[in-house]
Amino acid sequence: MNGRTPGWQRRGFNIAAMRTEAQRVLPRAIFDFVDGGAGDEVTLRRNEAAFDEVSLLPRPLGGAAKRDMSITLFGQKLSMPLMVAPTGLAGLLWPQGEAASARAAAAAGTAYCLSHGSVCTLEALAETGATPRWMQTYIYKDRELTREIAGRAEAAGYKALVVTIDTQIVGNRERDTRNGFTIPPRLSVGEVARMAFKLPWLMRMRSEIPKITFGNYKRPGEAEDLTALAERMLSLPDPAFTWRDIEWLRGIWPGALLLKGVLHPADGAEAVANGVDGMLVSNHGGRQLDGAAAALDALPAVAEAVDGRAAVLLDGGIRRGSHVIKALALGADCCLIGRPQFWGLAVGGEAGVAHVLEIFRREIDLAMGLSGLAKISDISRDILLRKN
Ligand SMILES: Cc1cc2nc3c(=O)[nH]c(=O)nc-3n(C[C@H](O)[C@H](O)[C@H](O)COP(=O)(O)O)c2cc1C
Repeated sequence: MNGRTPGWQRRGFNIAAMRTEAQRVLPRAIFDFVDGGAGDEVTLRRNEAAFDEVSLLPRPLGGAAKRDMSITLFGQKLSMPLMVAPTGLAGLLWPQGEAASARAAAAAGTAYCLSHGSVCTLEALAETGATPRWMQTYIYKDRELTREIAGRAEAAGYKALVVTIDTQIVGNRERDTRNGFTIPPRLSVGEVARMAFKLPWLMRMRSEIPKITFGNYKRPGEAEDLTALAERMLSLPDPAFTWRDIEWLRGIWPGALLLKGVLHPADGAEAVANGVDGMLVSNHGGRQLDGAAAALDALPAVAEAVDGRAAVLLDGGIRRGSHVIKALALGADCCLIGRPQFWGLAVGGEAGVAHVLEIFRREIDLAMGLSGLAKISDISRDILLRKN
């Protein structure tokens, strides 16, 4: 850095500005892969808009001169109620992108959840020593593959297993279709030419691109064909899975087990009945079923159905510290960020993700201070204006 603050750090003063910075540095097809949602992107927009529909009722005399925003989740202390969501292909944005994000999360005192679709292997990520570390997976047609991933995650010291339930079939992401960011890639000549204009990304990534793979799916000695690997990977999750599979997974995974993609309160209750430790109220950041409810709108009923018997987490549209406070007031124990982490990664690697997490820490602290909230347990429905 030569003692000078990088330009993106000065310009990226909030999460929306970091998105703009990411757009500046990434090839359009990659920016859109991160930024886009399914179909008409109704759910994507709803996720963010839902936070504006909820109002805080500050109580400035709450004695919040000093704020403690730490929480304990599954026996692990997090410095704030915000962690990094599983996001595939981080290694396409920055060399060893997964390791960069995990290190930034660990340095910020929070957790990182590795995607099944990471470029690196789950073992390589574990070698960074970054903790707390969670692993995301699916219920595969070949249950032995699910068992294998769970076993590898356990051996590599992952404390929680997150089973994503909303992506057994991949959603219709039309920006990717338009840009040719498909499997196999069908990039137009114009798109390839545009990539060349994103020189810093190209220079940084040129020796990495030939190595991009889905690390967790590559078998020793298997041919390097990324297209075949990706096609196989997308065909693996089992759309015919049921609660019996969750019950089975519960039996073989000794750590914390979470479901990701719960929106219906009945599924929240069913998840508890099947022995999960937690769930993510999530619509995959609007990337799967377009028209699905905003995660924040679905949260209160799920939290009510769970009634404290399991942890309830939320992701989708978190762009401000005050959004985290609102989600906690509506029943979440912790929030996760997907895209904001990727925007940070794209502009500054580990430093970029650290910057994004610092923006959130500052904003959560400010919102707590202005609301008169000294600690996380002070947050309840009481701090919201009820609209009847
Ligand atoms: C580029 C990208 C890749 C993602 N990959 C995965 C994945 O591999 N597994 C998964 O469960 N969720 C994945 N997600 C969804 C995120 O975990 C999370 O639910 C979502 O990004 C939250 O919304 P936000 O981006 O508004 O924060 C991905 C999201 C993005 C943007």
